[in-house]
Amino acid sequence: MSAPAKRSVTITLDGSNKSTTLPLLSGSVGPDVFDIRKLYADLGVFTFDPGYGATASCDSKITYIDGDEGILLYRGYPIEQLAENSNFLEVCYLLLNGELPTETEGKAFELGVMRHTMLHEQLRTFYNGFRRDAHPMAVMCGVVGALSAFYHDSLDIHDAESRRISAFRLIAKLPTIAAWAHKYTIGQPFVYPRNDLTYAENFLYMFHAVPAEEYKVNPILSKAMDLIMILHADHEQNASTSTVRLAGSTGANPFACIAAGIASLWGPAHGGANEAVLKMLEEIGHVDNIKAFLADVKDKDNHTKLMGFGHRVYKNYDPRAKIMQKACHDVLEELGIKGDPLLDLAVELEKIALSDPYFVERKLYPNVDFYSGIILKAMGFPVSMFTALFAVSRTVGWVSQWKEMIEDPAQRIGRPRQIYTGAPKRDFVPASQRS
Ligand code: CMC
Repeated sequence: MSAPAKRSVTITLDGSNKSTTLPLLSGSVGPDVFDIRKLYADLGVFTFDPGYGATASCDSKITYIDGDEGILLYRGYPIEQLAENSNFLEVCYLLLNGELPTETEGKAFELGVMRHTMLHEQLRTFYNGFRRDAHPMAVMCGVVGALSAFYHDSLDIHDAESRRISAFRLIAKLPTIAAWAHKYTIGQPFVYPRNDLTYAENFLYMFHAVPAEEYKVNPILSKAMDLIMILHADHEQNASTSTVRLAGSTGANPFACIAAGIASLWGPAHGGANEAVLKMLEEIGHVDNIKAFLADVKDKDNHTKLMGFGHRVYKNYDPRAKIMQKACHDVLEELGIKGDPLLDLAVELEKIALSDPYFVERKLYPNVDFYSGIILKAMGFPVSMFTALFAVSRTVGWVSQWKEMIEDPAQRIGRPRQIYTGAPKRDFVPASQRS
C-alpha cells in the first residue's frame, strides 16, 4: 500500500459551504497522488479525466515509469540492466514474484512453465474454424479466450494454486498459440513445442521449423527474441493492462481477461503500432519523401501520425527504444544484412523528426515500436505477426498485474463514472405522434 498521508489538500466548492480535505498519498518513488475517494460523498461532485491522463487507477508494486526522465523499472530494476544481464523467464519470475530467483528457484520456475507449453489436442481443431487469411491477433483473441473452455481446473481465482497454474499456462501456451496462428495461415503443419529449448528458442522453433527438415535455432535470433520479449514484458497501467485489470475486477477468469488484453493491444495506437510503423516506412519508400510525409503529419486536417513516435507517459526518449535501436543495428549486422533500406529510412526519419519544432514542442520521441518492426522483419517474421509477438511477451505483465489485483484485499470492481450530456428525463411519445 501507499504510505499514509503526511500532507493533504482542502477543496472548497465555490458558491456553497461544502469543503473536503483529501489526503496526499506517496508511493516509493514518483509523484504524490490525491486520494479523491470521498470527494463525491463530501462535495457531491466527481472528477473528469477522459483517457485517465491524471488518474492513478490502482496501487501497484510491479513496474515504474518516469516519463520525463525516460526511466523504466521492473520491480525496481532498470530495464537496461535486465536487458543486458537477465533472460525472459527470469524476468517473468521477477514480475510475478517481486524478486529475482535464486538459481534453484529459477530452474524450478523454468521447468514449471515449460511443462505447460502444449495445447489441449482438441484446441488444434479449433483453428480450423478460422479463415486461412485471418489476422494472427484475431486468432489469438479467439484461442486464448477458448482456453477457459479447456482448463476448467484452474479457474478458481480465489485459490492461490489455481492462480499459479493459470499464470504458468498462459505464459507457456501463448508462444504455441501464436506460432500455430502463423502456421495455420501459411498452411504448414503445426509444430509441437520442445521443452528442452529456452522459451525464446522454442518459440522460434515452433514458428520456423517444419516436420520434414531438421531445424537449428540461430543463436543470434534467439538472443534478439529474448531481448525483445524482456523489453515488452510489462509497462505499468497501459490500455491493455488496464483492460485486463478491469475485466479481472469483475471476477472473470484469467484466460478471458488476457483475451480482453489481447483485443485492446491490437489497436494501432497501442501494440499495433509496430505493424503500422513498417507499413508507414514502406509507404514513405525513400528518404526523399520524408519531408512531404512529415508535412502530412503536421497538417491537422490530415489524420496521418508518425507511427512509433509519441507516448502518453514518456515525454523523453522511451528507454526501450534506445535498446531496440542498438539491437536492431546489431542484429542486422550479425545477420549480414548490410544497408537495409527501411532501417536507413527509419534512422533518417528519426533524425529529421527529432529536430523538427512540431515534435520537439510536443515532446514526441521514438517509442519501442519505432525500431521493433525492422528487427522483427529482419528476423523473418511477417508484418502481421508483429503485434502477436508483443502479446506473447506482454502476457506475463498482464498476468502479474491481474494476480496483484486479485490478491489485493482492497480490490473492488472497476466502475468509472461519467458526465452525462444527453437528453434530460423526458416522456415517451408513441410513433404516431412523433414529428
Ligand atoms: N505523430 C504526430 N503527432 C502526434 C503523435 C504522432 N505519433 N503523437 C502525438 N502527436 C501530437 C497530437 O496530435 C497532439 O498534438 P496537438 O497538441 O497539436 O493536438 C500532441 O502530439 C499530444 O498528443 P496526444 O494525442 O495528446 O497524446 P496521447 O498521449 O493521447 O497519445 C499516443 C499517445 C501513443 C497514442 C500517440 O502519441 C500516438 O498515436 N502515437 C503513434 C502510435 C504509436 O506509436 N503507439 C505506440 C505507443 S508505445 C507502445 C505501446 O505501449 O503500446
